[in-house]
Amino acid sequence: MNTRKKTNSSLSQIQGVVSELKKQNVNPPGGDKYISDCYGACLELIEDSHENVIDIIQYALHYRPYISPQYFVNLFFRALQYIELYEINNDSSGVHSYPVRLSTQKDWKKELVSIFEFYADDIKYILKNKNTVTTVLQRYAGPQILINMFKNSDSVTVADFGCGGNFGLPGMELEIAYEKIDDHSPEGLATSMLYPAPTINKGLAFDTEDPHKETAKEWRISCSFYPSEFSKLAKTLVLEDEVAKARKTRFTLYDLTENPVDEKGSLPRNCVDFVIISTMLYQLSPKDRESVLANAERILTSEGLIVVQDFAIKDENTSSGLDFNTAWFSKYTWSYRTFVLGEITGWKFKEALQWPNGRCRAVREGEDFQLIAETAAVAHSTS
Ligand SMILES: C[S@@+](CC[C@H](N)C(=O)[O-])C[C@H]1O[C@@H](n2cnc3c(N)ncnc32)[C@H](O)[C@@H]1O
Repeated sequence: MNTRKKTNSSLSQIQGVVSELKKQNVNPPGGDKYISDCYGACLELIEDSHENVIDIIQYALHYRPYISPQYFVNLFFRALQYIELYEINNDSSGVHSYPVRLSTQKDWKKELVSIFEFYADDIKYILKNKNTVTTVLQRYAGPQILINMFKNSDSVTVADFGCGGNFGLPGMELEIAYEKIDDHSPEGLATSMLYPAPTINKGLAFDTEDPHKETAKEWRISCSFYPSEFSKLAKTLVLEDEVAKARKTRFTLYDLTENPVDEKGSLPRNCVDFVIISTMLYQLSPKDRESVLANAERILTSEGLIVVQDFAIKDENTSSGLDFNTAWFSKYTWSYRTFVLGEITGWKFKEALQWPNGRCRAVREGEDFQLIAETAAVAHSTS
């Protein structure tokens, strides 16, 4: 396949990507030096007008015109990490020299020149067809707090849209404890609602990628760790084995942007108390976000609640009610947020919680935290 063909991604899109690379070069996700050096090297290659890197970026933007610069840069790094782990380092000994082999910007520059020459088609394939499937159990602490706040019976039925590796609902079923969360909410109210885990009567997990496939697992591993986090891999593999023991959640392969054609299909009406959409909507175009939210509303009971968690802020001028064009990584913003939506909020997003990043080790109250707590209390007193 010759993927080197003329593409017409706009100059402003490319400038957006360059500007995001610069921002994350200074403020890399998780403060990770490897990522910072990688982006620094990439910027050097762009400045040198290195043909292969520009060709790859243009190609991907052509096929994904709606991708945000933040998401493009995120996916780009995952693609490089996949090549490192499963193409370059794929030796039978299992001893990987990634990432320590690449501890300076100079190391990365040499490596990128080689990757962009020998693995250009693999990178293009990923950037054109795949989504980031980073799966972090800790992220489900936010939805668990909201479920506990609003549940009105002992057991709940919950859907997980874009479940990735499908850890979230099985983790709740098995009552797996989250890592400690530094709680900045008034009197630690947020985390006071975290335990005990809700009893999952039935879980419905959906994704376009089947988490049980070996190829999906490789891609998930490539996505789920910053380079400096790979020491956590062994612990995560143990967790994967643990959550596989859960029995209440059924996985369905489904593109949630598609509206169901019949009533008996994968998305039955009015059957779940909560729909969790964690770190998924940012990957979609505005129109596709609307379709996913319509599907969430369809599957929800009339008193149910949608919990969206993402890098977003409330914005009623957007078609979804959320603006995803926010800075993901900054020392000053708590950019990862938990929102609720349903009949009880008048079908307007309310912001429940804020997290400094998608690793969710600290929390503080969202703009509407008090209102949400009061609404939940009123709902309980009248039920
Ligand atoms: C970043 S992962 C989030 C995984 C997990 N929810 C979490 O927060 O840790 C986003 C997931 O959304 C899935 N996804 C993206 N678009 C989708 C679609 N149209 N239908 C179903 N799943 C989708 C991706 O395959 C990916 O597994």
